Amino acid sequence: MLMTHSERTPYISSKAKPLTGSPVIPGDKSISHRALMFGGLAIGKTTITGLLEGEDVLCTAEAMRQMGATITRFDDGTWECHGVGIGGLKEPEAALEMGNSGTSTRLLMGLVGGHNITATFIGDASLTKRPMNRVIIPLEQMGVTFQAREGGRLPVTSTGPKTLMPIEYRLPVASAQVKSAILLAGLSAMGKTTVIEEKPTRDHTENMLRHFGIEVEVKDLEDGGQAISVTGQKDLKGATIIVPSDPSSAAFPTVAALINQGSEIMLENTLMNDRRSGIYDTLIEMGADITYSNERNDGGEPVCDMYIKASQTLKGITVPAERVPSMIDEFPILSIAAACAKGTTIMTGLEELRVKESDRLLMMYNGLKACGVDCEMGEDSLTIHGDGSAPLGLNKNVTPIETALDHRIAMSFLVLGTVSKNPITIDDAAPIRTSFPDFIDLMNTLGTDLKPA
Ligand code: S3P
Repeated sequence: MLMTHSERTPYISSKAKPLTGSPVIPGDKSISHRALMFGGLAIGKTTITGLLEGEDVLCTAEAMRQMGATITRFDDGTWECHGVGIGGLKEPEAALEMGNSGTSTRLLMGLVGGHNITATFIGDASLTKRPMNRVIIPLEQMGVTFQAREGGRLPVTSTGPKTLMPIEYRLPVASAQVKSAILLAGLSAMGKTTVIEEKPTRDHTENMLRHFGIEVEVKDLEDGGQAISVTGQKDLKGATIIVPSDPSSAAFPTVAALINQGSEIMLENTLMNDRRSGIYDTLIEMGADITYSNERNDGGEPVCDMYIKASQTLKGITVPAERVPSMIDEFPILSIAAACAKGTTIMTGLEELRVKESDRLLMMYNGLKACGVDCEMGEDSLTIHGDGSAPLGLNKNVTPIETALDHRIAMSFLVLGTVSKNPITIDDAAPIRTSFPDFIDLMNTLGTDLKPA
C-alpha cells in the first residue's frame, strides 16, 4: 500500500561503529522503470533480474498492468513481462496511481500519449506539486491533449490522438525524464522524432531501446549538444535485463563509510555510467578513497565493483556546474560529505533541485543549519563551510529535521547522524521505501545505529 502523509515514521540516527561489509545495493531506479515499461510494450518475453522493488517502480508495474501488459513477479525475485506491442496499450479503467514518482509519471505520460486512449495520473502530496508542463508542452505539439491543474500539476488527464505527429524538440531544461517522455511518445509517431539536448543527461532510455531492438540515432551538434532520434511504429522485441545496483542509492553508504573513521565497505555490481557517476568524481576530488575494479559491460550499461575506505578528512571543493546533470540526485548526500569536510564546498547550477521530490536546496539548507553547519543558500546554489570536524547535530527538544516526503533528504540526514556530536531525528523515514526499501536494515548491518524515534 502507498504511504499517506498521516503515516509518519520518525527515525533517530546516533553515532555509528566503523562501517564494514559488502551489502547488496538494490537495483537502479531509472533502469528498473524503463525495463518494466519497455517489457510491457515489447512483443515477446522480457525477463528482468535485480529489479528495484521500491514503491516508485511498483507504481510503474501496476500502471503497465492496468493498461494490459502481463507482468509477473516470481518467488526468486525475477520479473517477467509480456508486452502489448506499439499502439497496443488499453485505456485504464481507473486513474494511474503514481505515488511519489516523477519518473513513472513523466515517462508514462509520453508512452500513453502515443496511444489513442485517455488516462488520468494521480500522485501523493509531493508529486502533486511538481511541474508537468515540461512534458505537456512537447507532447501537445505531437497532438496529445491534456487537462491539468494550473501550472500543469497533477491530477493530469491525457488523451492521445489517432495519429501522433513526430517533432523535433530542443529541451529547455536538462532533463532525462523530458527527453525520455518525447522519445517514448515518438515510438508511436509516423516518422522520426528528435530531441536535442544541450547538456548530456542520463541515457538509459537510449541504451535500453537499443537493447530491445530499436534503432536510436545520436548526432553530435556543432554547439556541443546532441540530437537523439527514433523512428516510430516499430515494435520492441522482448529482452533479458540484468539491473545493476543504483549508484544514487550506493552514494548513501559510500558517504557514511567515508566520514566514519575505520570504515571499509565493498559495493559490487554498481552502475558506473558516466552520465550518473558525477558524485564519485566529486568525492574523489575531495580526497575520498574509492577504488573501482572488475569494470565490465552488463546488458548495455557499464558496471563495476567499488571499494570504499574511510578517508582522512575530506576537503571542500567547487563542483563544476557542468557536472550537475550527472549527479542531479546526489546533492543532498554530497552536502553531508561537505559538512564534514575541511574547507568550503561551492555547488552552483542547482535550480532543478527546487522541483525534485521536495525543494531540495531549501530542505538541505534548513536541515544543515539546524544541525549547526555553517552554510549559505542562493537561488540556485549552496555553499557549505566545514572545519573538518563532525557537525553538532540536533540539540535536545528541537523539532526533528523536516523531510517533506523526500527519500533522499531523509537518508542524507540519517547519514549525518552517524557522525554528528548529537543524534539526529528526522520526521519521517517512510518515503525511503520509494527508492531503497532495505536502507535501514542494510545500514544497521554495516554498523550504523538507526532506530524508530
Ligand atoms: C530520472 C531523471 C532525473 C532524476 C530522476 C530520475 C530518470 O530527473 O532526478 O530521479 O530516470 O530519467 P530529471 O529528468 O527531472 O532531471
